[in-house]
Amino acid sequence: MAEKKTYDLIVIGAGPGGYVAAIKAAQLGMSVACIDKEKELGGTCLRVGCIPSKALLESSELYRETQSSFESHGIKTGKVGLNLEAMLERKDKVVGQLTRGVAGLFKKNGVEPYHGQAKILEAGKVEISAQGKKKETIEAKRILIATGSVSASLPGVELDGDRVGTSTEALSYPEVPKHLVVIGAGYIGLELGSVWKRLGAKVTVLEYLDRILPGMDLEISKEAYKVFRKQGLEFSLKTKVTGVSVKKTKVTIEMEGKDSIDADRVLVAVGRKPNTEGLGLEEVGVALDSRGRVEVDEDFQTNIEGIYAIGDVIRGPMLAHKAEEEGVACVEKMATGYGHVNYDAIPGVAYTHPEIASVGKTEEELKESGVSYKKGIFPFMANGRAQSLGDVEGKVKVLADADTDRILGVHIIGPRAGDLIAEAVAAIEFKASSEDMGRVVHAHPTLAEAFKEACLAAWDRPISF
Ligand code: NAI
Repeated sequence: MAEKKTYDLIVIGAGPGGYVAAIKAAQLGMSVACIDKEKELGGTCLRVGCIPSKALLESSELYRETQSSFESHGIKTGKVGLNLEAMLERKDKVVGQLTRGVAGLFKKNGVEPYHGQAKILEAGKVEISAQGKKKETIEAKRILIATGSVSASLPGVELDGDRVGTSTEALSYPEVPKHLVVIGAGYIGLELGSVWKRLGAKVTVLEYLDRILPGMDLEISKEAYKVFRKQGLEFSLKTKVTGVSVKKTKVTIEMEGKDSIDADRVLVAVGRKPNTEGLGLEEVGVALDSRGRVEVDEDFQTNIEGIYAIGDVIRGPMLAHKAEEEGVACVEKMATGYGHVNYDAIPGVAYTHPEIASVGKTEEELKESGVSYKKGIFPFMANGRAQSLGDVEGKVKVLADADTDRILGVHIIGPRAGDLIAEAVAAIEFKASSEDMGRVVHAHPTLAEAFKEACLAAWDRPISF
């Protein structure tokens, strides 16, 4: 008889939530198995999400810069051409390097990887099935669900995995589309829309709401809208897509109350939904909420003892770093009784150009909750480093409590906003006031000085604007 495999913890899903939780649990002394249905570890984020999209954003931005910014730096180039195949290959190489890195980390920390579709049979028991292999059941004291999310679908829009697809297809179009229609002006739509626009496509973004980037601070989102339009992205707001049909290479998009448009590819980016299919949750009796998310308590435990869940599959923003923090907190609670995630200090970043980054409360949220606040704004135009980079679009906005001066929200549109937001996250985590951050020494000349100046503006007044 085959040896029975028993662990302290089985993690289902090897994305940023799952693999981080598995490694941390092993570091805390648990014996850990981690199951993923894909051969490559790393989940959506590494394989077909954050990482490949950032690789393409970087490459396409360089391509754009060589065409439009080099001259202003006094650099002459010959005719700049595009080798899309090489660009896609580079992206795949970056992904390969990182997924192999996760496998290496599993080995180093003694996490046992399993390949196959996991199904929970009962608390403590998981069945793994993989094509061409006999089903296998492994056991553990605890099970952690970290299966992430999948693209949400749209009524009337059938994905054919080619002309009409999700971000996965949009990361590997074999040629630059002549006309790409993006449905949804959220993170994915704007990032991948930017990539193909820079590479030469006409890009039209159809958005249901009257604004882009819902949930972001409105002032920053309005500025982003202006900048993207200037870059040549076309938008149709308040637009409800009712159907999409494909005839050979031509896609026709129907909308409510508007003339239909033709495109050669459509990217559906209307959000994501929790990935719970095939996990056996219903049979085991794991409770889901009305939006299909796994319900958990403050220890990330579901209604079934010994079954836990973290990341996109539970409430909260669907972000890799949120899943990672939850993974760590969840296994720390298992091992030590303590673990912590500060949901007021989770940054969000859109890696467009300029980047858009945000943490804490938006101005709209503060107004709605009746909190009296002060606002400090500093434009990158007045920042020495931004001027020398030739990248002056955007601003930093700091919102602080009017009575206590405590920083409540920071919203940035501008160069390297995704990196700059880290300081604002730390400020919120440590409950800093705008005066505190305005008095912190910042190296000169750096982009980070724009945050310091915005803090000075919120507290009293800035020096350089
Ligand atoms: P999203 O929720 O950011 O944006 C979806 C957009 O589609 C919204 O603006 C929504 O109003 C619009 N929409 C919904 N139904 C529509 C319809 N019928 N017609 C037209 N527009 C419609 O979702 P997205 O961009 O798909 O991203 C999914 C998740 O992945 C998000 O939770 C996001 O946080 C995460 N993500 C994060 C990234 C980052 O951190 N840089 C990058 C990519 C994704």
